[in-house]
Amino acid sequence: MSTKLNVADMVAKKVAGDKITMLTAYDASFAALLDGAGVDIVLVGDSLGMVLLGYDSTVPVTMAEMLHHGKAVRRGVKRALLVGDMPFLSYQVDMASAIRNGGRFMKEAGCDAVKLEGGLEVCDTVRGLVRAGIPVMGHIGLTPQTAGQLGGFKVQGNDLDSARKLLTAARGLAEAGVFAVVLECVPDELARIITQEIAIPTIGIGAGPHCDGQVLVTHDLVGLFEKFVPRFVKQYANLAPLVKEAIGGFVDEVRSGAFPDAPHSFPARPDLRELMQDKDV
Ligand code: KIV
Repeated sequence: MSTKLNVADMVAKKVAGDKITMLTAYDASFAALLDGAGVDIVLVGDSLGMVLLGYDSTVPVTMAEMLHHGKAVRRGVKRALLVGDMPFLSYQVDMASAIRNGGRFMKEAGCDAVKLEGGLEVCDTVRGLVRAGIPVMGHIGLTPQTAGQLGGFKVQGNDLDSARKLLTAARGLAEAGVFAVVLECVPDELARIITQEIAIPTIGIGAGPHCDGQVLVTHDLVGLFEKFVPRFVKQYANLAPLVKEAIGGFVDEVRSGAFPDAPHSFPARPDLRELMQDKDV
């Protein structure tokens, strides 16, 4: 087994010019598939609220839900760096609760680091978490927990003012001690500049090819989430129709009696058959 990755490895990858791969997982089976495929960072994203739990946004996601899924993912990951996404209001209220909640991701779910959304306004929190020994990944640009304030799910940093703000936020987060920062839905040229300007890795989602790494929601990548597909998602497979076909096949064959057939049943041994006939069971 190759060695377990840590946060310093991610910074080393940036220095070496090796691209970082990051994908989401919410359960042990998917986590093991990602880990086996060599993904560098597995994120227990709060996207689980929409992808798995059927919420309309990530806002309702709770610490209990994140920890429950985080523990499952931990059991499937051996090599990748495991990052837990801090849900809405688990880090904004005060420093003590931010550290307590961040610590729970490490102590209870076995995460290696946490991720939180926001720019300069979360830098003090980042400092507190890092001081407490909790590695932090930042997340700027389109931040889904506060998408309402940003005018919805749309590209951020499209004008000079907001582009400057994002660059300042990236610099501030790096200075506060994050080991990497997710750039979501920002123009590719802005992502290139941010990537050049900071010493820590940028991980892009809808941020073009110049970032140090790329992240997608796994269920989008494999075509298992059908509600909507953002423009930045490349579907490497389209599994939903295959799953539907398989389930349809099961339903049809159970109804027609074709399943279970002999190869999928356990024939009784002849002596048991005789015994049962004797007893008139
Ligand atoms: O929750 C999530 O899945 C995320 C990624 C899309 C970066 O934050």
